[in-house]
Amino acid sequence: KKVLLALAGALAVASAVEAKDYDLIRVGVDAPYPPFEYKAPDGTLTGFEIELGNEVCKEVTGKECEWVIQAWDGIIPSLLARKYDMIFSSMSINAERMETVLFSDPYYTTPSAFFSATGFDPAMSKGKRVGAQRGTTQDTYITEFLTDAEIVRYTTADDMVVDLKGGRLDAMFVDAPVGLELLGDDTEVKQVGDFVKEPARIFGEGVGAAFRKRDTDLEDQVSAALKKLKENGTYDAIMKKYFDF
Ligand code: ARG
Repeated sequence: KKVLLALAGALAVASAVEAKDYDLIRVGVDAPYPPFEYKAPDGTLTGFEIELGNEVCKEVTGKECEWVIQAWDGIIPSLLARKYDMIFSSMSINAERMETVLFSDPYYTTPSAFFSATGFDPAMSKGKRVGAQRGTTQDTYITEFLTDAEIVRYTTADDMVVDLKGGRLDAMFVDAPVGLELLGDDTEVKQVGDFVKEPARIFGEGVGAAFRKRDTDLEDQVSAALKKLKENGTYDAIMKKYFDF
């Protein structure tokens, strides 16, 4: 009888552990990438995704996320190596990434755009120095389509802007809101050409949180939290703080 009771106790503990919600979600993010993730003047991490992510984490754990800064080109390997359990970093949901990670439902969508001080035309890019952040959808696109350009790949988006402003790049290709935000009041550098959204094979269908493939339970909870935040107005309120539409 004693043995049976002990066994029942062990089973109860095991199922309690399984049903337990997450205590804390460690979240990988590459910053600065304004207006999505950047440091405020006082040094705190802020931005559209930081605020939205913290609300998501609060829904799931009762606490804000634990943010882990990670360079973009290692952001998926570090997820797989368990440095954190979720990526919330403007990651476009595309087929290639779906082979290695699991995505939440999309929580926003944004086109890409070229920015230049010299009236760059992507159709005439021969010999032109064109920048992208290494490992992004923009990098994939220019590598495939601007084959006679000289492609310069950057670890961080802000280093790329420094080179663009310094005349060391003819153009950069980046998520459109990030280009506009990083350039600020610069009057010489402008968006050139139309927004780029195609092919969907590269640019995907919106931006989502990414997880290790086996973490379906966490993904479910995060997608449910995003849905709730859209329904209760929190999502729109955060959106309004960072975008003027
Ligand atoms: N949306 C692009 C992609 O998925 C670029 C994202 C870069 N994000 C960042 N936080 N640096 O590749």
